[in-house]
Amino acid sequence: MLAIRRFLAALALAVPALAIAAAPIAMHRDPGCPCCLKWAAQVRAQFGRQVQVIDDSQRALLQKRLGVPADLASCHTAVIDGMVFEGHVPIADMKRVLAQRPKGVAGLAVAGMPTGSEGMEMRGQKGQAYDVIAFGPGGRRVFAHHAA
Ligand code: CU
Ligand code: CU
Repeated sequence: MLAIRRFLAALALAVPALAIAAAPIAMHRDPGCPCCLKWAAQVRAQFGRQVQVIDDSQRALLQKRLGVPADLASCHTAVIDGMVFEGHVPIADMKRVLAQRPKGVAGLAVAGMPTGSEGMEMRGQKGQAYDVIAFGPGGRRVFAHHAA
């Protein structure tokens, strides 16, 4: 009986942890935008988690609620483990900020849709230089610079 109770207690502890690890990543995008799917596919592959694609014509409201600065807007907004990712943010930068959780940083944004950024690779076209901007209650700063 005690063994069963112990087993159930262990199960109760383990299940929420599993649920968190397997929680799908929600990505809101401008309805029908195709480059979001290319970014989502890379996120799915690199994080090993499902990405729930939500067509959202009211995305501006979500961005406002999540504190994404209007001038850093792009075509999709994702929330991963409580951090916000706007636009074609490289996976490596996402993993770094999620591991570091810098104080005052709510998320990362890549404004617009720079050619050559994650999900915006164009065959035969040279990528452009762009910055990954950290934003949040602590203000904003360049988190990473990606050269052309
Ligand atoms: Cu895009
Ligand atoms: Cu898109």
